[in-house]
Formats: sequence, C-alpha cells, structure tokens
Amino acid sequence: MTEQRNKVVLAYSGGLDTSVMIAVLRERYDLDVVAVHVDVGEAPDEGRLTARAKEAGACDVHFVAAREEFASSFILPALQANALYQQTYPLSAALSRPLIAHHLVRIAHETGAVAVAHGATGKGNDQVRFDLSTRALDPSLRIIAPQREHNMNRDEAMAFAAARGIPVPTTKKSPYSIDENLWGRSMEGGVLEDLATPPPDDVWGWTTDPAKAPDAPEDLVIAFEQGVPTALDGTALPLLALIEKVHERAAAHGVGRIDMLENRIVGIKTRELYECPAALVLIAAHRDLETAVLDRPLYAFKRQVDEAYADLIYAGHWYAPLREVLDAAVQSVQRYVTGEVTVRLFKSKAVVVARKGEGILYDPRLSTYGADDAFDHRAAEGWIDLEALPLSTFRRLHPVAASART
Ligand code: ARG
Repeated sequence: MTEQRNKVVLAYSGGLDTSVMIAVLRERYDLDVVAVHVDVGEAPDEGRLTARAKEAGACDVHFVAAREEFASSFILPALQANALYQQTYPLSAALSRPLIAHHLVRIAHETGAVAVAHGATGKGNDQVRFDLSTRALDPSLRIIAPQREHNMNRDEAMAFAAARGIPVPTTKKSPYSIDENLWGRSMEGGVLEDLATPPPDDVWGWTTDPAKAPDAPEDLVIAFEQGVPTALDGTALPLLALIEKVHERAAAHGVGRIDMLENRIVGIKTRELYECPAALVLIAAHRDLETAVLDRPLYAFKRQVDEAYADLIYAGHWYAPLREVLDAAVQSVQRYVTGEVTVRLFKSKAVVVARKGEGILYDPRLSTYGADDAFDHRAAEGWIDLEALPLSTFRRLHPVAASART
C-alpha cells in the first residue's frame, strides 16, 4: 500500500475508548492515526501502551514524558495563584489539557498532520479546553472529537473492538470515569451521580480512609523561595520530587479528598470527587505564607487575581492573553513569598500550624497585648474620627431607621 492518506494526531490515553477511536478515525474519517500519549503523571506502561496503539491500527505512536514540564510550567503557576475552582478544586485535569494540546499540535506540525483528535464528550469541560488550546496554538488545524459526534457507549465500543480484533482490557473496568495526574485524581459517574448518596469507599484510589489514618499527627515543613517550594523538612528537592513526597505523606493521612458540586463550563452542575493530597497541602501552605508576607491591600488584590486565574484555567483559556497578564501579576507578587510553613497532617486534615521567614510582616511588638506593646493606642482615636466622618455626616441627616437598629 503506497497510497498516502491525511494524518490525524490523536490524544491517546491507552484505554478502550481511545483505542477504538484509532479504528474509528481510520475507517470513518479515512485518516492515518498518529497516537500520542502525554505522560503527566499517571505512570503508564510505555511498552504496553505503544503496542496496544499499534494493534488498534495507529501508523505511529509517540510517548511524551511531560511530568517535569507539567510540574514546572503548569502546576507551579497554578500553585502560586493558589488556584482552586469554586475555592475547592485544584484544577488537576484542567491544567493538563493545554499541555496535552501543545504536544498534539507540535507533533501535528512535525508529522504534517492536518487534524488533531481527542476522546472528550460533548458535555464535558475537557472538549472546551482541548479545542480552545488547539485553536489558540494553530487555528488552521482541524479538530475531530469522534465521541462528541457519535457518542459510542461502552458496550458499543467493546463490540466495535471485538469485531476488529482490537485487544479489550481484561481487567474489570472501574464504574467511574477517572482522570489522574501529578496534581490530582478525578472521579465522576456511576453511583456518584446520585447526590443523596455519600461516596462509596471504592471511589478512593490514593488516600487512606481517614478512619484508618494514623493516630499520631505528622508535621511537614515546606520551604518556599520566591513562591517556589524548594525543600521538605529541610531537604532541598526539585519540584517534581517534592510534589511526589508531599503527595505520599499527605495521602497516608487521608488528606486530599474532595466531594463537590461543580458548575461546568457547558452550563450543567455535576457531582465531582477528587483526591488531591499534594495540591491541597501545598496551596494551603503557599496561601498562608502570602498572608504573612503581603500587606493588606496587596493581599486583597492577590485574592482577586487568584480567583480570576482559577476561573480562567477551568474555562480552558490557558493560551489567552489574560492568562499572561494574570501570570505577570502572580509572578510579581512571588518575589516576597519566601519562608517556611509547617503543615500538620492528621485524620484527613492539613492545617498550617507554624510559619517562619525574614519577609514576614508580623511584628510582635505591634501585635502583643503584653508589656512591651509598641502600638500607639491613642493614634486610633483621630484615625477613627476621620474614618467615621462621611458616615456620621450622612447619619446626622438620615438616622438609621428603628427597624434597622437590631
Ligand atoms: N470535572 C473536572 C474538570 O472539569 C474533571 C474532568 C476529568 N476528566 C475526565 N475525563 N474524567 O476539570
């Protein structure tokens, strides 16, 4: 066969759905498929994954080792922005999509492909993130989302695979839809769709059941240098290793479980469960240090930037100019964020219990109620007179209504 067909670069997870998608793209779209697996921390078996993509009919398979890049270029800025969607979700899946899209587009250019493809459905957030990122990186590339166009269910996918001799997973499939990377694990679907049911034990894959967590608390001392976590308990560690260590120790105490109702980009509410031990510990520590080193107006401004940053990542606008502007603000603040924070892990909780650092603005002589108090109490009087001036002027003319006095 010498006939040249157009190529598509597929985001390949290695599971049944994206394996079937290789055949779908060949048969229904008449394209040659370059399967690309971007490793952002789910520890796949590279050999097995490559073999399976070939058996499913891929003309070429690329394995991209992207854990370090994910940590330094995506997780780190999100950590520095204390990024939590709805003040709860550390955006683990959301952060990985623009990175995966970047590699799909890069490989599309290298292989001369005309399109990129992914397995996201039409009602999720991931399609939006993949598509917006791809549009930003190369507006001329065609985007194909077979699952959005045909919505094949699992039984159909199994039958489709069996008919073509594509190996189907022999292990029992989890009843949940799971996405994993360095920054977290997400679980949705199955019984979780019933809001009135608490999460069953089998949904948790990383964290110890808090009821079985150690009876003794454990402290983690995390050092930050200009907003970058650089050491754990006094030992300097590269970012990736530090995240993995924090993950291990926090997960053992049952830290990191999240059960939330999420407002999706496409307008629906969904029940989402996550396990994000490292993210929750590191964000708690980083945010606490910011409270210590930033003055009040800058801290208030930073919280607004943080909120905008989380919303932007969630919505898939990583490659938008607004992200660059928010990043510049976040980066500018980080020069002050140096110090050491102690986080105590105990029975599913991670609580900051101590902080240290040269840049900390806390001044004991100003804050103490003890004998060496240096705060000028009398200065408060005149300051309050002026603070109250517009209020008392207004209220002289319009007294507070009797009904509003209690
Ligand atoms: N709801 C989360 C988000 O939008 C998790 C998505 C996980 N993706 C998946 N294919 N299971 O970020």
